[in-house]
Amino acid sequence: MKSRTDQVIKRVQAEYLDTLLPARDALLARMEAFAAEHNHPIADPEVGQLMKLLVRAKNPKHLIEVGTNIGYSVVVLGRECGAEAVIETIELDRGILATACQFVAEAGLVCEVKFHEGAALEVLPRLAGPFDFVFIDCVKTEYEQYLDQLLPKLEPGAMIVCDNLLWGGKVAELVHDPSTDALRAFNRRITTDPRLASIVLPVGDGVGISIVNA
Ligand SMILES: C[S@@+](CC[C@H](N)C(=O)[O-])C[C@H]1O[C@@H](n2cnc3c(N)ncnc32)[C@H](O)[C@@H]1O
Repeated sequence: MKSRTDQVIKRVQAEYLDTLLPARDALLARMEAFAAEHNHPIADPEVGQLMKLLVRAKNPKHLIEVGTNIGYSVVVLGRECGAEAVIETIELDRGILATACQFVAEAGLVCEVKFHEGAALEVLPRLAGPFDFVFIDCVKTEYEQYLDQLLPKLEPGAMIVCDNLLWGGKVAELVHDPSTDALRAFNRRITTDPRLASIVLPVGDGVGISIVNA
């Protein structure tokens, strides 16, 4: 989630683009209000809208999310999935995961959702692929390790979406701290790894979209 609306593009542009976002349904609006009230870092609505379009276009069948939080992005992704799809999602915090389970149950998704409690770097090796859609939205210093653990489980054409790649502007401003340095290295990695075709977009707090090459 962005801390400032003008941290990537000019405020007037960010505010204009916000007016073009479709209204969220009652459940997503309630989750956004819950996240704001309890300080949960859910995806920005424009990131949700982007993922909705990507999932609709790709029609993935086995999705993996790293970082569940209250399940906002699970609901966004799941609403675009059919009954044959499975979403797996990983969250460290048991209490937050319980909240996610409740919200996702309310959504009445037709696809299956498998919740995994634990540290992503410990859970990911236990999950069987292949996956065809990935959403990485977790510990910033671990993004490259998530990618390394996931790549052998991704089929050609699989899509990887990563949030917060501009990290409040700090990545471009050459700020140095562990998360910012890790994200800068991650952006270089996804845009130069020969196994991937990637772009980083100024949507939300910066979103990476990669496709696994054939
Ligand atoms: C940015 S939030 C995810 C937001 C969610 N994808 C959404 O848009 O609704 C990141 C989540 O990762 C969880 N988390 C932190 N460290 C973790 C770890 N090592 N393994 C798994 N989850 C972790 C946090 O508790 C937090 O809920």
